[in-house]
Amino acid sequence: MGHYHFDQMIDRTKTNSVKHTFNLANGKSPDMISLWIADMDFPSSDEVIERIRERCDHGVFGYTTVSEGYLQAIRSWFEGRFQWKTESEWMMRTPGVVYAVSAAISAFTEKGDAVLIQSPVYHPFAHSIEGSSRRTVRNPLLFDGSRYTVDFDDFEKKIVEEHVKLFILCSPHNPVGRVWTREELTRMGEICLKHNVIVVSDEIHCDFVWDGHVHTPFASISDAFSSIAITCTAPSKTFNLAGLKTSNIFISDPEIRQKFKDVLSAWHCPEPAIFGLTACQAAYECGGAWLEEVKGYLHENIRKTTEFFAAELPQVKVIQPEGTYLLWLDCRGIPVPPEEVDKFMLEKARVWLNDGSVFGPEGVGFERMNIGSPWAVVEEACKRIAASAKAL
Ligand SMILES: Cc1ncc(COP(=O)(O)O)c(C=O)c1O
Repeated sequence: MGHYHFDQMIDRTKTNSVKHTFNLANGKSPDMISLWIADMDFPSSDEVIERIRERCDHGVFGYTTVSEGYLQAIRSWFEGRFQWKTESEWMMRTPGVVYAVSAAISAFTEKGDAVLIQSPVYHPFAHSIEGSSRRTVRNPLLFDGSRYTVDFDDFEKKIVEEHVKLFILCSPHNPVGRVWTREELTRMGEICLKHNVIVVSDEIHCDFVWDGHVHTPFASISDAFSSIAITCTAPSKTFNLAGLKTSNIFISDPEIRQKFKDVLSAWHCPEPAIFGLTACQAAYECGGAWLEEVKGYLHENIRKTTEFFAAELPQVKVIQPEGTYLLWLDCRGIPVPPEEVDKFMLEKARVWLNDGSVFGPEGVGFERMNIGSPWAVVEEACKRIAASAKAL
């Protein structure tokens, strides 16, 4: 028995949670089950909550920066868990990882330049690229029906033909759940080095890696890789702190770092707010035990969801995730046109997932399901999907 009770139902509708109130704001049914946006319906660790409380009790909330203890907590986490040695001066903070991705696009490319992504992939990448008048170039992942891999020939071809300046790597990959191997990362990194491509490595999901897989920070592979990398990390997914808006960005190369800092400065990027900084430090210092428990629970949810669909609705194939708590479901076996799978989920099953097509054209007919909720909720969603599909 663990210390935490992740089966406990907590009503988030009164806290303006995006996941649970967006449906109401959009005129959708209140009995919709929401398993879309990537946060979990679980409280964070006791230590995080306690430290926020202590800081709150102080009562004075003036302008605040970080301490050496904050920097050390984060560096120790990455060194202890991923054998990645970093320096405090490499680190900067932003109010989110997408913010940092946008800042990198602005710092290292000009209007009209090409930025590479590997679709299907986390959709705000393309929004940030196109929102800043750059061009999205896609290196679609290869899919053999159960696992995704990198098309290296296409990767290099696109870089050369489109004069790509920046590559946004999603590692581990959302939504397909791949944890890139050291070999795969090395091949991608060597191609980027050869063609002077800077790499934004979004490693926000690095702490959710399942048995038999190992997360390798891209910048940890070699000094050469580190010299072209902007590594984006955050406690937001790991410790369920997304509403506290705190991300830690690492850049070892002084010139690249300065360019990035210049953009942050031009944008008047603020330090994250006091409670974000407090929670971040506490989480990396003391949250390890909570993380292991929550991972155990999530792993069970993945196993039970997979078993459920295999037994009850094999037309939905769960792509086995190597990392992340987001399940990529191949729903093309459900007897509705692939473009209408999301409509089926919303209107027939009354389950709100992420429509696979938002991650790129390769995602049509797929759905992304966030299993970071009490099993009873995930199970009810699975049952609704199965019953509605059988009724078609
Ligand atoms: C790959 C990836 N990057 C970034 C984010 C969000 O980052 P933030 O909320 O810090 O901007 C998410 C959230 O789902 C994500 O999956």
